[in-house]
Amino acid sequence: MTPQDFIPKREAKNIEAGEATWQSPSNIALVKYWGKKENQIPANPSISFTLNNCKTTTSLKYAKKKAESDPADFSFDFYFEGQSKEDFKPKVLKFFQRIHNYCPYLKEYKFEIHSENSFPHSSGIASSASGMSALALCVMDLEKKLYPDINEDFFNIKTSFLARLGSGSASRSIEGPLVVWGKHEKIKGSSDLFGEKYPDEIHDNFRNYQDTILLVDKGEKQVSSTVGHDLMHEHPFAEQRFKQANDNLNKLIPVLKSGDLSEFIKIIESEALSLHAMMMSSLPYFILMKPNTLEIINKIWSFRKSTDIAVGFTLDAGANVHVLYPENQKDKVLEFIKNELVAYCENGQYICDQVGEGAKKIS
Ligand code: PMV
Repeated sequence: MTPQDFIPKREAKNIEAGEATWQSPSNIALVKYWGKKENQIPANPSISFTLNNCKTTTSLKYAKKKAESDPADFSFDFYFEGQSKEDFKPKVLKFFQRIHNYCPYLKEYKFEIHSENSFPHSSGIASSASGMSALALCVMDLEKKLYPDINEDFFNIKTSFLARLGSGSASRSIEGPLVVWGKHEKIKGSSDLFGEKYPDEIHDNFRNYQDTILLVDKGEKQVSSTVGHDLMHEHPFAEQRFKQANDNLNKLIPVLKSGDLSEFIKIIESEALSLHAMMMSSLPYFILMKPNTLEIINKIWSFRKSTDIAVGFTLDAGANVHVLYPENQKDKVLEFIKNELVAYCENGQYICDQVGEGAKKIS
């Protein structure tokens, strides 16, 4: 597939007005994407677990513009959790501008967008993956009305392609349980242009894998991902990091098949710490972990050593900790979290999530 394949070439049906609602989850990367080329092309491939409970629900109402409206403009209103949000509009506008070449019908409509998250506002959880994918799904819902012969495969691929142009990691939120984005020589169908459901065998150990998100710092992100990705351009360790991500994905393939949890944990924890190491060694440099992040990591390590329970962690570009463990250890790990880790969370807050199957349409 090339970007050209996503430009509609047939004649569209006439659709005057309508509405679509989609729910799309967040995802947590196991092998991280950090660094990109032009047009949201990743510097290395990444793979993520699609989440189940942390999600965005977005409705898109559309009606053909009146003849007198300016055909050169995008026209939309944006509401977040019922409130009109002017400060979210530039992001949506940028998204529409980036995808317009592939969705030329966008300027023909006036849109009303309503969006809400299942996770608490300002929890330090990035909503760009769930938010941008939910909006891309709604746009594609309209596209499917305009071009009814679009099949499910094309629908998913183009949605992921569009979501990627909004936020790279959003390309991994359409399907589940594991999605790869970025070309990797050992993963069939993998592409820099869109996320693809991981095509190889996945061991039962990873079924309903648990992710308890410990909210260590609920504040605004210290570094936006745009700034963070840019810092990889002049980064002294960039090439080595991109190679490491490729190698880690390579190592993960047999681990996903065999269900070897101790190898799995080594890979994901090394990825999390490498991501943060990149931030600490860029110019300007950042420490996004907080003292409590390190307390939690040390507690996880000593719990794992003393119990042999396969619990590990990963981190996003922030201080919150994702505690990852198999479903059959849920009771014991949750007890450990409540007894020993919750004290390090802001206001004792954490979110219980698990691996999910991807986005769904709400009728
Ligand atoms: O999708 P973005 O541009 O917000 O970048 C996300 C980057 C990380 O969350 C840190 C890693 C990843 O692969 O999700």
